[in-house]
Amino acid sequence: MFDNWASNYNKSVIKSEQEETYPFAGYSNIKYQIIDIVAKRSFAHILDMGVGTGEITSPLYNLGYRVTGVDLSEKMIDIAKKKLPNAIFICDTFQNSLTKLNAQYDFIIFNYSIHHLDYQSQIDLLLIIHENLSSQGMIIIGDVSTENTLDMNKLHEKYDSIWDEEEYYPILDIYQKSDLKNYY
Ligand SMILES: C[S@@+](CC[C@H](N)C(=O)[O-])C[C@H]1O[C@@H](n2cnc3c(N)ncnc32)[C@H](O)[C@@H]1O
Repeated sequence: MFDNWASNYNKSVIKSEQEETYPFAGYSNIKYQIIDIVAKRSFAHILDMGVGTGEITSPLYNLGYRVTGVDLSEKMIDIAKKKLPNAIFICDTFQNSLTKLNAQYDFIIFNYSIHHLDYQSQIDLLLIIHENLSSQGMIIIGDVSTENTLDMNKLHEKYDSIWDEEEYYPILDIYQKSDLKNYY
């Protein structure tokens, strides 16, 4: 599915953003916020989980930051490689990539990607991947997101006709009530 989407992915982001609609309204804002956070450090190794076409980390790569990208889609990685030729890429699922990570990362980014896992799998993954953070490291999640389930349900109702039922958008409340609460 992601291989088929790869060549049109950036176009669908732009269209959704221009129409200010679900799911990519605010995509550029998130992107610039991530760049701002990372750029406060003069050096960083970034792990981009679900790197896609490299849209989020390519500006940081161009500023000289080291980037490792994980994605299960070969076609997405092919596009990302053109923008980040010297980055490291792991073409595999999030889960399988864990044994292939051989560094401590200053930033681990999930931008519009962790929602492909159900909530318990998100929590389990975040707990494990936390071990790959450097001492001052930070996990950044950019996505459709709400503070609680009630607000997510409202969003779902608003965009019911185009809502993707197979995606589980991060809900702060669910994270805060899980074992992740020990890491805030
Ligand atoms: C909506 S795109 C987001 C791409 C990029 N992070 C961005 O912000 O533009 C989601 C990406 O996550 C990847 N992905 C989805 N599920 C995955 C999984 N279980 N393991 C690894 N990659 C996955 C897809 O192949 C796709 O490239």
